[in-house]
Amino acid sequence: MNAPTDSAVLEGGRGAANRAVRFRRYGGPEVLEVLAVPRPVATPGTVVVEVVSAALNPGEIGIREGAFALMWPATFPEGQGNDFSGVVAEVGPGVHGVQVGDAVLGFTPRAAQAQFVLTSPDRLAPLPPGLGWDEAASIAGAGATAWAAVRAVDPRAGETVLVSAAAGGVGVVATQLALLRGARVVGTVGEANEEFLTSLGAVPVRYGPGLLERVRAAAPQGLDACVDTFGPPNAEVALALGVPAHRVNTLADGRAVQRYGVRHEAQEQADTPQVWSELAQLVAQGRLHIPIAATYPMTEVAQAYRDLGARHVRGKRVLHIASAAGRAELTR
Ligand SMILES: NC(=O)c1ccc[n+]([C@@H]2O[C@H](COP(=O)([O-])OP(=O)(O)OC[C@H]3O[C@@H](n4cnc5c(N)ncnc54)[C@H](OP(=O)(O)O)[C@@H]3O)[C@@H](O)[C@H]2O)c1
Repeated sequence: MNAPTDSAVLEGGRGAANRAVRFRRYGGPEVLEVLAVPRPVATPGTVVVEVVSAALNPGEIGIREGAFALMWPATFPEGQGNDFSGVVAEVGPGVHGVQVGDAVLGFTPRAAQAQFVLTSPDRLAPLPPGLGWDEAASIAGAGATAWAAVRAVDPRAGETVLVSAAAGGVGVVATQLALLRGARVVGTVGEANEEFLTSLGAVPVRYGPGLLERVRAAAPQGLDACVDTFGPPNAEVALALGVPAHRVNTLADGRAVQRYGVRHEAQEQADTPQVWSELAQLVAQGRLHIPIAATYPMTEVAQAYRDLGARHVRGKRVLHIASAAGRAELTR
């Protein structure tokens, strides 16, 4: 179910301001602005959440640059961001099971990078004790995407799985979910993430020319499945090493999907509070680690996306929507 749109947003509500990331034309990070916008008011069946943290995802770059303008045109000034954590600030008539003050995480398409978001209670999951705001904000996007991708290739104990970009936002979760199933993971990384991947219990291999031979050497017993979070040539490498197409899932290689029939399961296939809660529990229990590579105040959103666009990271980059003082007030 989609979140209510801006047409449901009304001025007013406790007189509070609502600052939000917006862009008024397609373009580079410089088009991103923090604007004062109307604060949403909870209508029947909806809730307003005061956002603490909102994650950044590479797909948002393509949306902002206009790469998807024909399929999913923006409505300027367009909002940005999907996955967030925060505190329920207002509950509309007829809402049950969610209360003001509840700590939650959720997914509101193109709207999450704002102080207040309007959403449906069934698009939220509670935060278990021990789960941090930044990790929580990363669960409904990258976390759910990794969950879907791993489920699609169904790794079993004793099998070997290739995960590309294994230290990235999606890759680092996919790597650990495959390890939790008892599989052996061979993960592609740059030099800076080799030791980190080893510390997770996976076998690092460098991406780049000669990848097939390096993966073959790291998996002498053969490969059983592949979660490709980066794109070419990873799906083709897995196929060349004998992985059947139905056990290759790519997030970023449309050609391999068309040409070889590999899978393309992503966030959309795991877009439920049940999946979010499962991941949230794993993080809270210390069984799944979501590294936070960097955090940025909302006013530094353009720099945050410049850094994200470089595509070298360990885990997630996250916007702090609530100020430091606000974060302290919004304690759980
Ligand atoms: N459809 C959906 O629902 C959905 C949701 C989320 C993400 N996605 C897609 O999933 C993909 C992964 O997203 P993400 O958030 O995980 O991205 P990310 O965090 O930006 O991934 C960065 C990682 O890519 C690695 N990398 C850089 N150059 C590489 C290369 N040439 N070969 C292999 N790896 C390389 C980097 O490794 P080092 O840092 O080790 O150098 C880095 O760790 C993106 O295409 C994104 O759009 C889709």
